[in-house]
Amino acid sequence: MKATQGDIERWQAELAGKQPYHIMAHALAHQGSELLLSFSGAEDVLLIDLAWQIAGSDISVFTLDTGRLHKETYAFIERVRDKYGIQIDVRSPDADAVGALVRQKGLFSFRTDGHKECCGIRKVAPLRKALASANAWATGQRRDQSLDTRADLPVVQLDPTFEGPNGPLVKYNPLANWTSAEVWRYIRGAELPYNALHEHGYVSIGCEPCTRAVLPGQHEREGRWWWEASGSKECGLHTSANDGD
Ligand code: ADX
Ligand code: SF4
Repeated sequence: MKATQGDIERWQAELAGKQPYHIMAHALAHQGSELLLSFSGAEDVLLIDLAWQIAGSDISVFTLDTGRLHKETYAFIERVRDKYGIQIDVRSPDADAVGALVRQKGLFSFRTDGHKECCGIRKVAPLRKALASANAWATGQRRDQSLDTRADLPVVQLDPTFEGPNGPLVKYNPLANWTSAEVWRYIRGAELPYNALHEHGYVSIGCEPCTRAVLPGQHEREGRWWWEASGSKECGLHTSANDGD
């Protein structure tokens, strides 16, 4: 369902202080199976669990397969597909665009050029394509994931970056107000499957060459693109490509 800024402000007021389950229920009540759930293969499995409790297997889930994910992430995506009995739309990047980048700059250009060009081809363009026919989507973003870029994240907003066929997309962030500890209490309490990398010190998980384990007490974002400044640690899925530069 299309929404205006007025709808968003009303929904934000209705959802203030509400738990992720209620935010997801609100999203599904307004958008139904047209709500696209994005799944990165990490602790955002919680989104799928909430939606599945509310709507069963009649939910639409996609993941962006950059071609550079860990084998543990691929295995986890399959476990989630099996557990919930759902289809997961695995989206690949454009082969010609990847080929041109790799031919020109090699397989690790992000180490010297910054990650935005590679992320632009492997993540942002496929996301734009996935959302081109959508009206609404949901993400597993949380405020505590980054004080630099996500501190003001609302639970529902008009997407600041991507548009659908009918104009601005509605973007839900049902976990925005939860902390990592709350997410993990839920995952463990409900015995949800999780990515095996979490057993090896990984917290925030993206592509294999751009993700590393963190030490106790280190912020989760320090495990992503660690050679870059903290303000530029967004790949363009949730901010425009130049934010943070
Ligand atoms: S990123 O922008 O830095 O890569 P992050 O890993 O924090 O994002 O994940 C935040 C949310 O973005 C996830 O919960 C998910 O909703 C979405 N997301 C990130 N990566 C992917 C992916 N590969 N496929 C689908 N959704 C993703
Ligand atoms: Fe490329 Fe790294 Fe971005 Fe993955 S996270 S798309 S490998 S730059």
